[in-house]
Amino acid sequence: MEKMKIKMLYADIKSDIEVIENELEQALNSSSHLLNDASVHLLQAGGKRIRPVFTLLSAKFGDYNIDRMKNIAVPLELIHMGSLVHDDVIDNSDMRRGRETVKAQWNNRVAMYTGNFIFARALQYVTSIENPRAHQILAKTMVELVNGEVIQIEDKFRLDQSLKDYFRRIKRKTALLIESSCELGAVVSGADEKTARHLKRYGYFVGMSFQIVDDILDFTATDKQLGKPAGSDLMNGNVTLPILLMKDDPQLAPYLTKVAVAGLTEEERQNMLALVRNSEAIKEATHISNLYLKKALKEIEALPKHPMKKKLRDIALFMGKRKS
Ligand code: FPP
Ligand code: MG
Repeated sequence: MEKMKIKMLYADIKSDIEVIENELEQALNSSSHLLNDASVHLLQAGGKRIRPVFTLLSAKFGDYNIDRMKNIAVPLELIHMGSLVHDDVIDNSDMRRGRETVKAQWNNRVAMYTGNFIFARALQYVTSIENPRAHQILAKTMVELVNGEVIQIEDKFRLDQSLKDYFRRIKRKTALLIESSCELGAVVSGADEKTARHLKRYGYFVGMSFQIVDDILDFTATDKQLGKPAGSDLMNGNVTLPILLMKDDPQLAPYLTKVAVAGLTEEERQNMLALVRNSEAIKEATHISNLYLKKALKEIEALPKHPMKKKLRDIALFMGKRKS
């Protein structure tokens, strides 16, 4: 169902998405058998390719040329892919998108150099972009992405963190890369400054809403829908919005204490999930996500008249309301 919706949303740029998909395949090709196997494994796991889609849709507001745009859209997806391969080592995660992670199928060492290879390939693609501003945006985003991950490690199991800490963290780990995907689409295609600014802000708000939804779904979706155990965030010590909104609930307290010291048994995980799913915190978090979504939609209104405005709107709504 979700897959069908995505297909419909991408219909206008279907052939260009295929170009990106083929290019990703080529990008992940290496002279090492092991790297190739790990890369095929990653490609087969799929993904929404939402970052390249944002880049291409944003580029439609400028002078659109897929041969040029692929050199920025592909590295954006590669950076995302590489960061997830490394993230699964950091989080010790065995499953992603219903498949074993690279670190589980091979080992941590293979995951580290697969991620490094993917980052290096991303850099190779960007070399053909002549605009220095594009390089600055991308480099800064990568630095902040790493910062976000480091902060997430430092904040593990920290229940005294504020909502501001949480928002700062998700901005770095998710919203900035989506923001940059939109901004870079505009900048590389030569769209005007005002358009680039609104697309950038649109990307930021969509990214924030997207990550909050992701953090809600981690509790509300099923293991099967998630392709990994529900509640993984909390079990890994990643304290997200629903938990921050209900951390003083006395019923939740025993789980919060135990998860940090000994982990939860399967029965405790199920009870914790039931408690969070039925809480006000889920409603509140959904409300906050919708506020970001509204802000994203407002940015679209400020863009010049263009047929892609409706697409940007539909994609934002899909991402903000998705169920898995
Ligand atoms: C997923 O978070 C992780 C990220 C979105 C970013 C991870 C970033 C890095 C490992 C640094 C990347 C390095 C460079 C050079 C760019 P999550 O664990 O909350 O989500 P999950 O449930 O999908 O694992
Ligand atoms: Mg993770």
